[in-house]
Amino acid sequence: MTVAYAQRTDDLRLEGAYQVLARAQELEALGRDIIHLEIGEPDFATPSNIGQAAAQAIADGKTHYNPSAGIRELRVLIAEDAGRRRGLTFHPDQVVVSPGAKPNLFFPALALVNPGEEVVYPDPGFPTYEAMIRVTGAIARPVALLESNGFSIDREDLARQVNACTRLIILNSPGNPTGGVIPQADLEFVAELAERHDCWVLSDEIYSRITFDGLSVPTIAALPGMGKRTIVLDGFSKTYAMTGWRLGYGIMPISLAERVSLLLNHGIGCTAHFTQIAGIEALSGPQDAVNSMVAEFQARRDLIVDGLNRLPGIRCRKPQGAFYVFPNIEATGLTSEAFAARMLEGGVALLPGTAFGQYGKGYVRLAFTNSGENIVRALERMQAVLSNL
Ligand SMILES: Cc1ncc(COP(=O)(O)O)c(C=O)c1O
Repeated sequence: MTVAYAQRTDDLRLEGAYQVLARAQELEALGRDIIHLEIGEPDFATPSNIGQAAAQAIADGKTHYNPSAGIRELRVLIAEDAGRRRGLTFHPDQVVVSPGAKPNLFFPALALVNPGEEVVYPDPGFPTYEAMIRVTGAIARPVALLESNGFSIDREDLARQVNACTRLIILNSPGNPTGGVIPQADLEFVAELAERHDCWVLSDEIYSRITFDGLSVPTIAALPGMGKRTIVLDGFSKTYAMTGWRLGYGIMPISLAERVSLLLNHGIGCTAHFTQIAGIEALSGPQDAVNSMVAEFQARRDLIVDGLNRLPGIRCRKPQGAFYVFPNIEATGLTSEAFAARMLEGGVALLPGTAFGQYGKGYVRLAFTNSGENIVRALERMQAVLSNL
């Protein structure tokens, strides 16, 4: 048999973090000690009240099919919680619950974009955006996020990329991999372009509760007229340290939510019932665990930014949210890939900025999802590698 796969899968690659994790684990199997700063997931346990609610739900038999868009009680709570935090009013029918946030990237794109139409997305950005755009048969148009601009959208580049063929603009604030936040004025610029070219905006706000120095992140969904063309993407993975539970949601106009639910119905079926009960507990139970995780992330951010800025050839901005730093390493004379490879040899797993797109050249990403103690050890190892160059 001749093996031929559909072309839409030809360019798919594993996310860079999974590749480096696999290599780091090979080294660990050989007895090497590696400090992991590559994977983007909180290192905290899921708060125990959430786990207990899920265990009780399983004992109560909440282990069967349920509505594709999610159980009503959770959709109502998400509409209230997400609306209150953004100063907006959402109807529960606008909410589509999914196993993790990722399906709420993929299915709205499938529902909105025809092959050959264009989608604009942030670069450096979460690698799933480009993968998803290509699989839908759309043309992927990266827009630069520049360090000089606090890693917000570069307005000139955005204006160049958006045109009559653009169907969807993806935003991510606070952003992976930079930790940058898109300020209100830039959101207004994006909104004006989206109105003018009549395109949709997918606002990935999965890190919206992980912000520092008391910052509250503005959302494009709150700008006049944007509700009817915006999908807000959020979820439980990062906020509640629930990456493995697979629980996320999209909030969008009701007619789009109906289409996305149909895709979810045929593509996945539904989200596990007991996981949704855990989500109800997450939203309605105490929020102290979230607050203490964010406080810990802020302390680690300060530690890692100060430490990196003391290393030769490294310049690091303070991120305003998420749990990543994206230092510039050009002055070390190494490429992003060479830098990451040398650091892995030296016992620190981190990602080359180019794993997030062409504008990641000259940068690397470190996730401060490891203890302060390990961050200090990682900085010492990095210092040793750099002084031996
Ligand atoms: C920017 C961004 N969006 C979406 C996701 C996906 O979240 P989930 O694990 O809930 O599917 C991630 C996960 O790394 C992310 O960094």
